Amino acid sequence: MPVPPKAALVLYGKPKVDEAWLTGFLTALSGPLATALENARLYSLLEEKERQRAELLKAWLRAQEEERARIARELHDEVGQALTGLILGLEGLPGERALALKELARFTLAEVRRLALDLRPSLLDHLGLEAALVRYVREFADRTGIEVDLSFHLRQPLPKELETVVYRVVQEALTNVARHSGSPRAAVGVLEAEGEVRVFVEDEGRGFDPRAVGPGHQGLLGMRERVELLGGRFLLESAPGEGTRVQIRLPLEVVA
Ligand SMILES: Nc1ncnc2c1ncn2[C@@H]1O[C@H](COP(=O)(O)OP(=O)(O)O)[C@@H](O)[C@H]1O
Ligand SMILES: [Mg+2]
Repeated sequence: MPVPPKAALVLYGKPKVDEAWLTGFLTALSGPLATALENARLYSLLEEKERQRAELLKAWLRAQEEERARIARELHDEVGQALTGLILGLEGLPGERALALKELARFTLAEVRRLALDLRPSLLDHLGLEAALVRYVREFADRTGIEVDLSFHLRQPLPKELETVVYRVVQEALTNVARHSGSPRAAVGVLEAEGEVRVFVEDEGRGFDPRAVGPGHQGLLGMRERVELLGGRFLLESAPGEGTRVQIRLPLEVVA
């Protein structure tokens, strides 16, 4: 759609060239010039909006992580302790009923721990990414029966923001493996190369056509958003019958 001209071209002084030619030339120029100016204005407006959106999203994600950590802590500490107390209390009681109740309490405790782990493991904040991933992968394998090969090679601990993103991507990608791939195996890799952290999660499952994912699916989108917010790249390779490979690359120098 043509943009209506909003710029004026004002000329000072006496031109030495033929006036008719100059007028023609300038008239011809003013249209595209006005369009270019208008485009530049719209572009900078868009850039400003995009910057605001990214800021907002970052703040929101940060708040979400803090909230999750708080709930996970309370679940683990308060609820976990109460359940542990209950189990101990039921220990000495005789009868079938007591045994069944103890079983129920044990099961609930395991669920509560799993929930806390899913929300945000305190391990991630205290012992770092590798410990948190080892634990997550083990719990994932136990729960789903999917065998996961984890290889982790980083020379130094990552900045906190990167650790969170890597953890969330692995978590989401593995959840997809369990939910959609039908694969009995998955591989997860975290390594460092050329000033980047590179992470991949792959399976040998049924695969899918990435272009055919309709609206209402937030997992892949969410991963991409998180990664791009930190200046990284999100790559998805999949095709029906060919398994799926999710890859991310994050610059180690974070521009927070
Ligand atoms: N590892 C995978 N194997 C097979 N299909 C997948 C895999 N990961 C994602 N998909 C497909 O991509 C879709 C979108 O995934 P996602 O955005 O995480 O949303 P959701 O998991 O909520 O459906 C899934 O519904 C599924 O069809
Ligand atoms: Mg998903």
